Amino acid sequence: MKGKLESLVDKNNLPAHIVIIMDGNGRWAKQKDLDRISGHREGMKSVRAVVNGAKELGVKNITLYAFSAQNWKRPKVEVDALMELLKHFLEKETEKLIENGIRLNAIGRLWELPQEVYKVLVNTIEKTSKCKEGTLTLALSYGGREEIIDAFKEMMSHGNIAGEDINQTNFSKFLYTSDLPEPDLLIRTSGEMRLSNFMLWQLAYTEIYVTKTLWPNFRKRHLIKAILNYQKRERRFGLTGEQVKKREVI
Ligand code: IPE
Ligand code: IPE
Ligand code: MG
Repeated sequence: MKGKLESLVDKNNLPAHIVIIMDGNGRWAKQKDLDRISGHREGMKSVRAVVNGAKELGVKNITLYAFSAQNWKRPKVEVDALMELLKHFLEKETEKLIENGIRLNAIGRLWELPQEVYKVLVNTIEKTSKCKEGTLTLALSYGGREEIIDAFKEMMSHGNIAGEDINQTNFSKFLYTSDLPEPDLLIRTSGEMRLSNFMLWQLAYTEIYVTKTLWPNFRKRHLIKAILNYQKRERRFGLTGEQVKKREVI
């Protein structure tokens, strides 16, 4: 059944792509006097809630920042636990993703993942590759600067593009996100006002929503609140408010 909050969502103005910096697992655990790993485990429930919630709301693309290129520097026990949780999530959720018609995608330096995690990831990506209802992208061993460097290297070695011909359209084809729409809405949980090396290229005109809610407490209603807030914004893309109103736009 649709709740009251959900009925307020304008289905004609849904973000085509929501990206989320899932932050605050450690702080959630600390509040409860638990170890950080319990926070990460609890955070997996929020991942499920958001993936299912997005599907119910009709949001076609969700990208979750799950592990940054810089997160490798965390204590080994924490990194190992995060990798184990990821593997477990993929093994457990593959059937559910297929049932819901959700294709799994991944961005980042995936080759840096432990081999057994990489294998399970590729397996889920392959098994869900024909799903058409929506796409869930996991950013793993991901960094925005790393992505731009990787794209540039790719373009230099395979692009066959002369320096003077480089433009935003042909360069962005080499980014990990080349088959995804531009993100309309960025959500960051736990209140931090920074990008932490996430989608530095793609976020150029993305609407930003930061909530104090810690990631393990984040549920569908929080997603709806973020969307309702997004729907009140005026996106200008550098134009004047008057131009936007007259729809001289985009
Ligand atoms: C986000 O929660 C999960 C990852 C970065 C992998 P944190 O672990 O960063 O939680 P805080 O920021 O310490 O609360
Ligand atoms: C960003 O969170 C990375 C992920 C959510 C995976 P961090 O907790 O690593 O970011 P900082 O260190 O607070 O900037
Ligand atoms: Mg954090």
